[in-house]
Amino acid sequence: MLHYIQANTNGRLQPADEPSVSPLNRGFLYGDAIYEVWRTHFGVIFTWEEHWARLARSADALYLKLPLIADQILHEIKRTVSAYRQHTKDEGELYIRLQVTRGNGAIGLDPELADRSDFVLLVQTCPRVPAEKLRDGFKLSLATQLRRNPIDALNPAWKTGNYLNNILCLREARARGADEVVILNQSGAVTEAAVSNIGFVRDGAIITPPLSAGILGGITRGILITDIAEAAGMPVREETVRALDFREMKECFLLSTTKDIGPVSAIDDARFEVGAHTATRRLKSAFADYARDYSASHPELRV
Ligand code: PDD
Repeated sequence: MLHYIQANTNGRLQPADEPSVSPLNRGFLYGDAIYEVWRTHFGVIFTWEEHWARLARSADALYLKLPLIADQILHEIKRTVSAYRQHTKDEGELYIRLQVTRGNGAIGLDPELADRSDFVLLVQTCPRVPAEKLRDGFKLSLATQLRRNPIDALNPAWKTGNYLNNILCLREARARGADEVVILNQSGAVTEAAVSNIGFVRDGAIITPPLSAGILGGITRGILITDIAEAAGMPVREETVRALDFREMKECFLLSTTKDIGPVSAIDDARFEVGAHTATRRLKSAFADYARDYSASHPELRV
């Protein structure tokens, strides 16, 4: 392991490279799990409520009972962060991952075999987007072998522990030398990247695929639509985007908790503007203002 990761398995604190869950854990065996990722901005857990609400929706969709209520998980997060900081002396920004599984049981798919849902928290330093990617942009490539799960199968709106579809799409793009992948749906429309939503800039407006394309309703994407776009003085539209439309797009960016707004320089042969003068840079700076205000007004979420 490259750096220390602190785990908390059902309340038991341990280094994350030590064994914790049972080999009969259904998250491990079947991906029968859900998760959320938070990060801190200025030492405060960012958009706690929004991620918790999405976790609750994912749990409902999977008929999975959450093992703890929000306040109890927040308490466990604070314990895990304290253990992390004690071990590493790292006072920087953190990545906080909560994985909830349906628990253990006899081998078999029937959810009735599961004993009780359980959780694992992982806390590590917040990964930084490398400076050269911020400057030069990410290179993306379209997945050609697999499409995003359709919304009437394993709905991408549910944040489950089952990422094999996205893993295989990412593998394909990485094999071509790209940083990230763009995944299409069954009708050939753009959905999202492997762990990020996607946005474009065309004629001064932000364009992002609609939820109906089959995407995760990203918290970062949500804030872009409700707050950041307006703060940056740009209209935002949820619109179907196809590969043929890339040539009309002036800019492209990724949206996720860990990247916030990350510039994209290319999707295969389609090129986009990056740099100090871009709308993407303006959005990123509006996002930083939003995160600063959020942190200042949520002292109860300081960890
Ligand atoms: N991933 N789309 C997918 C498929 C994702 O897994 C994620 C988040 C997003 C962005 O959502 P948000 O803005 O709420 O982080 C979009 C997390 C960060 C991860 O797996 O690390």
